[in-house]
Amino acid sequence: MNQPSEKQDIVIFGGGNMGQALIGGLLDSGCPPDEITVIDTDPSTCSTLEKSFPQCRVHAEANCAPLSAQVVVLAIKPQVVRLVCEQISARYGSVRPLIVSIAAGTLTRDIGTWLGAGFPVVRCMPNLPVLVRCGSTGLFAGPEVSEAQRAQAERILAGVGFTLWLEQEALLDAVTAVSGSGPAYFFYLIEAILEAGQSLGLNADQARQLTVHTALGAAKLVEQGDQDPHALRRAVTSKGGTTEAALEILEQQDMKKIFATAIHHAAQKAELLSRSSTPSTETRAADADK
Ligand SMILES: NC(=O)c1ccc[n+]([C@@H]2O[C@H](COP(=O)([O-])OP(=O)(O)OC[C@H]3O[C@@H](n4cnc5c(N)ncnc54)[C@H](OP(=O)(O)O)[C@@H]3O)[C@@H](O)[C@H]2O)c1
Repeated sequence: MNQPSEKQDIVIFGGGNMGQALIGGLLDSGCPPDEITVIDTDPSTCSTLEKSFPQCRVHAEANCAPLSAQVVVLAIKPQVVRLVCEQISARYGSVRPLIVSIAAGTLTRDIGTWLGAGFPVVRCMPNLPVLVRCGSTGLFAGPEVSEAQRAQAERILAGVGFTLWLEQEALLDAVTAVSGSGPAYFFYLIEAILEAGQSLGLNADQARQLTVHTALGAAKLVEQGDQDPHALRRAVTSKGGTTEAALEILEQQDMKKIFATAIHHAAQKAELLSRSSTPSTETRAADADK
C-alpha cells in the first residue's frame, strides 16, 4: 500500500456537484491540492473550480490529464461515461490506473467494455448529503481491484461520509433504493411534519427548526445509542400519551408496508435501469434521475 507521504495523482472527470464535493472531502482529509486534477468540459464550471480550489489543476480537455494518475474518478453524468471511458482508454491504456465511478446505474461490466480489458474498476453509489460531508456510499470492487486500490477508493469516498463495501454488484440496487433515494424519503417526512406543525399554529420557521432538529436528534440517538429504533420508539411511547395517539394512526395506515412497497419499487427501478442492455445505456441514463 502507498505510504501517506507518497504522491498519488487523482484525476476527476466532472467538476459539478458531486465532483466538487469529492474534491472538498479529499482536501479536508489532507490530500495535497496539487495532486488533484479536474477535467470538466463546461467553461463556467472550470472557472468556478479555479476560484473554489485555486491550487488544484483544472482543464477542459481529457488529453491534459496527467499520465502519472493512479486514480481516475468518473463524476460525470451516465450518458457521457462511455465517451470518457474511451478517452481514458486511449490515454491510460498502457498504465491502467484505478477507475472509480459514481455514475448512477452504470455497471462495471459496461465500464470495463468501454475501457478495454485490464482496468481495475470500483463502482460507487453515493447520495446527496455528500455535499455536506454526511453522505452514505455503497462501493463494489471489480475483480482486478487490489487491496491497495480499495484503500484508494475508500479514501476518496470516506472524505464525504460513511462508506459500505458490498461483495455483490447487484446489492448496489438495494443501496440505490435505501440510501441513494433515501434523502428524498426523509425530505418527504420532514415536509409532512413541518406542514402539520404549521397547521397547528407554528410559523414556517418555527415548524422547520423544530422538525429538522428533531430529525437530527432522532438520527443521532439511533446512530450513537445502544438501542435499536424499535426499542427507542417503545421507550418514548407512554401508554395513553400523545406519541401513542400519533403512532396509532400511522399503524392503522400501515406506514411500514407503504415504505416497504415504495423502497422495493425503487430497487426494481434501479435494477431495470442498470441491467438494461449496453446499447440502451444512453436511453436509460437520460431516464435516470441521478
Ligand atoms: N447528485 C446525486 O445525488 C448523485 C447521487 C449518486 C450518484 N450521482 C452521480 O454522480 C455523477 C455526477 O453528478 P453531478 O450531479 O455532479 O453532475 P453535474 O453537476 O452535471 O456535473 C457533471 C459535470 O461534468 C461535465 N462534463 C460533461 N461531459 C464531460 C466530459 N466529457 N468530460 C468532463 N466533464 C464533462 C458537465 O458539464 P456540462 O454541464 O456542460 O454537461 C458538468 O460540469 C452522475 O453520474 C450521477 O449519476 C449523483
